[in-house]
This record gives sequence, C-alpha cells and structure tokens, in this order.
Amino acid sequence: MIDLKTPENSKILKLIKMGEKDYDKGQKMIHAKNREAEYEAFAAWIKAGAKDPRLVSLPAPKETAGPDKAHEIIRHARIDRVLDSFKRNVWSQRMRCFPCHTPHEIDGNSQKHRLARERLKKMKHNLGNLFTERMDIFKETPEATMEYLIRDSKRKSRNRLPMLNLKDPEKSLIILKPTARLPKKIGDKQFEEPSFLEPVSHMGGIKMHPDDFSYKAFVAWIEDYAKVMSGQYTSEDELPADNWYFTQQMMLMREAPSDWPEKARVQFFIHGWDKAHKRWFREPIAFTQGTMNPRRAVFGTLFLLRSKQSEKKVHWDNDPTLAPGEYLIKAYVDRREVLADNPTAILGKEDFYGQGAINAKWGKLFKNAQKFTGALLRKRAAH
Ligand code: HEC
Repeated sequence: MIDLKTPENSKILKLIKMGEKDYDKGQKMIHAKNREAEYEAFAAWIKAGAKDPRLVSLPAPKETAGPDKAHEIIRHARIDRVLDSFKRNVWSQRMRCFPCHTPHEIDGNSQKHRLARERLKKMKHNLGNLFTERMDIFKETPEATMEYLIRDSKRKSRNRLPMLNLKDPEKSLIILKPTARLPKKIGDKQFEEPSFLEPVSHMGGIKMHPDDFSYKAFVAWIEDYAKVMSGQYTSEDELPADNWYFTQQMMLMREAPSDWPEKARVQFFIHGWDKAHKRWFREPIAFTQGTMNPRRAVFGTLFLLRSKQSEKKVHWDNDPTLAPGEYLIKAYVDRREVLADNPTAILGKEDFYGQGAINAKWGKLFKNAQKFTGALLRKRAAH
C-alpha cells in the first residue's frame, strides 16, 4: 500500500485516484473535490512517515490489511450507486402508476391533468378507508421513495407482503399488486376487499405485465438490492451490468415472422455503426423486450446501455436519447421459455432469430415509435 522509497508511487494513492473512472458523471463531480483533498492529505502523510526512521524500521504486520472484498463489490454496495440504479429502474417507471400513486406528478392547475384529478377524487370517494396514505407510493424525490420502500419492507406483517421482498423479489408487493387483477366483484361496482397476500388483487387493476420492461427493471433492482444487503456478491463477475437507462424512445415491429410462436417473448438488441472499423459494434447500444400481441406486433421502449461507444451516440442529461442514424437490430425469440422463470435474463445465441439494418429516427412516445416489419429480420445461423 505504501512505497517507502518513492512515496508518490504508493498503491493507496492510486486507489484514491481510481474514483476518477466513475462512469456516472454526476458522481464524479460530487466526489472530485473530496477525492482531491483526500489524495493530498494521504500523500502528505505518507511522505512525512517515510522520512521518520522510527516508523520506517517498524516490523511488517503478519496479516495484510484491507477489506476482504474486491473494490468493485464495495463500490457496488454504496448507497449512492443503489440509488442511481433505483432512479433508472424504478423511479423512471413511475408514470405507469399515475395518477393513483404519484401525488407529486399531478399538476393542480394544468388543464392537461384535469381528468386525472377528477378520476383520483372519485376513486378517493369510492374507496373510503381503503384510500390511505399508503396510496402515496412515489414520494417527491427518488431518495424519499426508495427510503420509504425500504423502511416499509422492514415491517413485519403477517397479513401483508412487504413492498420489497428481499427473500423472494418477485413476491414483492410493488410487483404483485400492479400485475394483479381487480378483486372479485360482489355486485354493481362493489368489490371484495383487495388482498395483500397471494393471490394478490389490486384495486387499480393490471398495470404491468410479467413480460414487460418495467417489470424486468423492478425485479432487477430488487434482486440486486437484496443481494447487496445480504452480502451475497463474492466476486466481481457476479455483479449485474446495471447500466440500463430508460428512454421515452419506442419501437414497433409489425408482421412478425410467421414462425414465431403465439405470445412470443422477444428481445431486440440494437448495435451502432463503428465508423473507424467499418463494421457494427459488437456490444449493443440499446435493448428492449416485448411480447408479441395477437396481431403479431411487438412493441418496446428503448433502454440504453452505457458504454464508451454510447457516450458518442447518446445524449445523456436528464432525458437520455439515442441519436438517429444507421443501426443493426438483432432479434432473439424466447422459445425455451427462459424469461418465464427468470424475468431478468438476457437471451443468448440459442435464441437468436435474425437481424437487419435500419436507418432509424427513434421517435418518442407510442405515436412516433420507430416502425419496421418482421421482413427486416433476415435469418442467420451465426450469432
Ligand atoms: C387507476 C389507479 C391505480 C393505478 C394506475 C395503479 N394503482 Fe396501485 N393501487 C390502486 C388502489 C386503489 C390501491 C389500494 C387498494 C389495493 O391495495 O388494491 C392500490 C394499491 C397498490 C399497492 C399496495 C400499497 C400498500 O402499501 O398497501 C401497491 C404496492 C400498488 N398499488 C402498486 C402499483 C404500481 C407499482 C402501479 C404502477 C405500475 C400501480 N399500483 C398502479 C390503484 C392504482
């Protein structure tokens, strides 16, 4: 850790510098100042120590110091990293729960939200004491929301599943509720009490499907958080990539190939063009997943994958956006039903169907979705 002959080459100083590689730009800025101060203090202390003959002649310790986990695992467990992941995977999806669970997103004056306000008021009236402060799931900030979910999940209750179920992430209330149907009807506009245990029912009805991307993102975040909390990660290879960024850009594939099975779950990987080498980048720049509907269309929201390559083709900021241009779309079809058991899985070689190049604009929202048909995807044996 400390190089007595050339103190400025000490490994500990290099470790402090490592923070500069943080790929999260915001994080990098916040920490730059602290890190500089830390670096200078350590450098001065090492230099002074290296000059002190009494310290230099001390015997070396028998055991090496330092944490027993790899640097990357410690970084992964940092609360700011967990929060950053929460923002991308859960917070970014909150408008799917609008207006019922997002009181801070309703604009009290805007005409645009008039209908939402009225709907909510009516719901409050109809639900009576079912409409509690627990309806306010999404707080004003992602920090407060994550804190609330974590705090709520520490409560022990036998008649209500925890919001985040760290033992079995897919059995988290925040996932089971929006994927559940309305409670049983017991007369005109009258329902049984909603259930908070399996089988769960949701007074909001089905708002998310086990195959869609929000579901995948919610489960991925809870699984990761659970593993961090229980210290399950032991090696760097086990860490999830966790570099997804939600966008408002959408794609719609119509006329799916006739050999795709009904309700096929499909993943699309989008690759950019590598000008320098005149070929497609091996690493995808964006990803989406969808289920083929009865009219043989698949619809998906783009998730961007952060990498060196995507720095150039993506405008990050608050609203990450993939630049228009030439892209390769690779399609994978889940014939093996991998995603049914493991919703966060990424399909592989065996599931590859075909690919095709497209000059894409990647419009935002459903009406501007980038459209193409199944004919674009030429079958290829190789990956
Ligand atoms: C149209 C309104 C509506 C929408 C949209 C809606 N819900 Fe709900 N949700 C309700 C109502 C009403 C309740 C209270 C009764 C119940 O528990 O089913 C509820 C309850 C819940 C609860 C239980 C909260 C607790 O602490 O007891 C969770 C969790 C939940 N919803 C998650 C979601 C998520 C996540 C979304 C978005 C993906 C969503 N809901 C979308 C109406 C809605």
